[in-house]
Amino acid sequence: MGIKDTSTYNMEKDYYENLQEGPRFMGEIPPWNSKPSFPFIGQRLNSPLGIPAGLLLDSKWVGLYASLGFDILAYKTVRSHQYPPHPWPNCLFVKTDMIKPHEPPTQLVAPKDWEPPSPRRVTITNSFGMPSLDPIRWQDDVEKSLGLLKEGQVLIVSVVGTFKGSQEGLVEDFIRVASMASEAGAPIIELNFSCPNITEGEGTIYTDPPLAGWIAREVSKAVKGIPLLVKVGLLLGQDLDTLMRAIAPWVQGVVGINSVSLAVVNEEGKPALSPDRKTSGVCGWAIRQCGLTFVKEARTMKEKERYELAIYGCGGVTEGEHIRAYLKHGAQAVFTCTGAMFNPYLALEYKGVMEPQTNHKPLNYQSPV
Ligand SMILES: Cc1cc2nc3c(=O)[nH]c(=O)nc-3n(C[C@H](O)[C@H](O)[C@H](O)COP(=O)(O)O)c2cc1C
Repeated sequence: MGIKDTSTYNMEKDYYENLQEGPRFMGEIPPWNSKPSFPFIGQRLNSPLGIPAGLLLDSKWVGLYASLGFDILAYKTVRSHQYPPHPWPNCLFVKTDMIKPHEPPTQLVAPKDWEPPSPRRVTITNSFGMPSLDPIRWQDDVEKSLGLLKEGQVLIVSVVGTFKGSQEGLVEDFIRVASMASEAGAPIIELNFSCPNITEGEGTIYTDPPLAGWIAREVSKAVKGIPLLVKVGLLLGQDLDTLMRAIAPWVQGVVGINSVSLAVVNEEGKPALSPDRKTSGVCGWAIRQCGLTFVKEARTMKEKERYELAIYGCGGVTEGEHIRAYLKHGAQAVFTCTGAMFNPYLALEYKGVMEPQTNHKPLNYQSPV
């Protein structure tokens, strides 16, 4: 038993096992009341706190985290066709200090059998490659997810097009998958323009502002009336400004950051996940300064250039204090993925329903639903 066992996502099992058997949680959930008062894209939510695309593999996961008081729930990125995940392992602990946004390390180590000192200090590397179920299956499940939300909560459906050699084809596939999400009843659609585990094509759209603007424009025409968000990786300075200018006319908000793409090696200096995965996404505690710097810069640019775009913060939030720091720096809502994976009570702690956990008990292996 260790920190690994406090995670709702079982790192020792593969993606499909987690989809079928997860989430791993049998704890008690104290009662809490809905109080919709925070503005979020034309609605009122109970809080500005959410789970970004990634942890909510299906409606069972959406239902659990909604009942745990997370009010913005982003369904894990889906595609216009079935798509396999990268092979297991998909998550490993990484031993690192806080990563400096302007001087990220060249590589980090994921030591075998090492565990972080507490769930609040967890940094992991994740590598999934944006797998997707067949649309018929995820569309039904999105509908089911909508029925599990409480008053003052909202669902976002994250989508990605698949690059098959041409940018025209990628734009068309984004239109296809966003239209499928719209048919399924998605109240908000997020265009995932970054995946640190896919090193070209759809994984790096956020570094190509003309392509990002093109996709955002075409999707906004195709799904008229549905608010759009864009998810980006770590981008700062002029590059961030150019991207914001390209997408601002078409989308309501930008969510950053995705996991930081870095070389993660084992103690022998070899790629830690598998020989062909030389880089992977690093997320959790150590990327908080990267996420905060992104939010600060995005906010400054938004104010200077009058971009009509909300800024949503993500990265390294593992405590209530971190949520408050993001809000202070200009984020209009805050997302936590790794933090909520290892401490599912984070929202209830933030809302004052529970005292911050000091003694994290391992979670049971069965799902409550
Ligand atoms: C298990 C896992 C799966 C993820 N899958 C996705 C995904 O499908 N789409 C996406 O946009 N981001 C994905 N992410 C990235 C998160 O949304 C988030 O941007 C990143 O983890 C940084 O936040 P954190 O430090 O709170 O974990 C994933 C992250 C994790 C840990």
